[in-house]
Amino acid sequence: MLDNIFRGRRLRQSPAMRSLCRETGPLLAGQLIMPYFVVDNPDPGFAREIPAMPGQMQLGLDALKARVGRYHELGLKALILFGIPAHKDEQASGAYAENGIVQRACRMLKSEFPGLLIITDVCLCEYMSHGHCGIITADGAVENDATLPLLARTAVSHAQAGADIVAPSDMMDGRVGFLRNALDQAGFSMTPIMSYAVKYASAYYGPFREAAESAPACGDRKSYQMDPANWREAIREARADLEEGADILIVKPAGPYGDIIRLVAENCDAPICAYQVSGEYSLIRAAAQQGWVNGEAVMLESLTGIKRAGAGIIITYFTEELLDKGLAVRN
Ligand code: PBG
Ligand code: ZN
Repeated sequence: MLDNIFRGRRLRQSPAMRSLCRETGPLLAGQLIMPYFVVDNPDPGFAREIPAMPGQMQLGLDALKARVGRYHELGLKALILFGIPAHKDEQASGAYAENGIVQRACRMLKSEFPGLLIITDVCLCEYMSHGHCGIITADGAVENDATLPLLARTAVSHAQAGADIVAPSDMMDGRVGFLRNALDQAGFSMTPIMSYAVKYASAYYGPFREAAESAPACGDRKSYQMDPANWREAIREARADLEEGADILIVKPAGPYGDIIRLVAENCDAPICAYQVSGEYSLIRAAAQQGWVNGEAVMLESLTGIKRAGAGIIITYFTEELLDKGLAVRN
């Protein structure tokens, strides 16, 4: 007979005992955000599966309406929109066009589903012929300050089209304050900014760049997105965005950056949103398709890990599957 050992198994012996002692609650539908890729296609019923992201689609306006309608009925409360324009140029003019694809999608979704939160990704890369998130100088550098007015125009045009929250993902310095000012002056002082405050230069974005057709034509994003080796810098980025007026902070990617989620949650008092990015999704999907892991179990474990790290809000491509299977609590 062993004396005085810690018998951790006492509290694991039955499902009810485990439920009693569970430290992280179930996923709440109201805190999940589903990303959608809306395409400016002459056929509004256009729908194409993204090869690198099985189960995820590029959708024309009508296809988007049908899909969102279906999931709104199943409990979908929030989505984030990415646009794929018909034409790209060096000014990203499609990003802030009154009749741009995201602007049209916002107006449509707002009138069809008034209770749904429409979040828009504010960036220029999908609209730039070169695929970078900002204006490029002759020598190929991404110019910070010249990019800010275009981002502000984009954010204001989204708000005018009915976006409930704008989410700048470009990583230019000073853009949160610049956007806040522009939104306030345009009469949108109540439109929150959900800032991609802590966004790493990550290889996990690979599948997204296929989905959004936004891979940089040359170079990479390392001069504006963060170095994956850094953690103290995350606090500086988060604090800077809060001081400039950010309402919600995004940490991205999520799973491999659980330490960063925890760090930001402990050092900042704004809501924390973690973005489980395209590569995190595709890795799980691919292994599940091969039969190498139990896809549903890994999906749930990955999201529990993100929540346990300290994220309240989660952007995940698994949102639809969670709703389909009743794996998120409707609230
Ligand atoms: C645009 C943007 C990206 C993602 C969100 N907004 C791509 C990038 O920065 O290269 C990545 C999302 C994902 O991988 O799911 N700036
Ligand atoms: Zn971008």
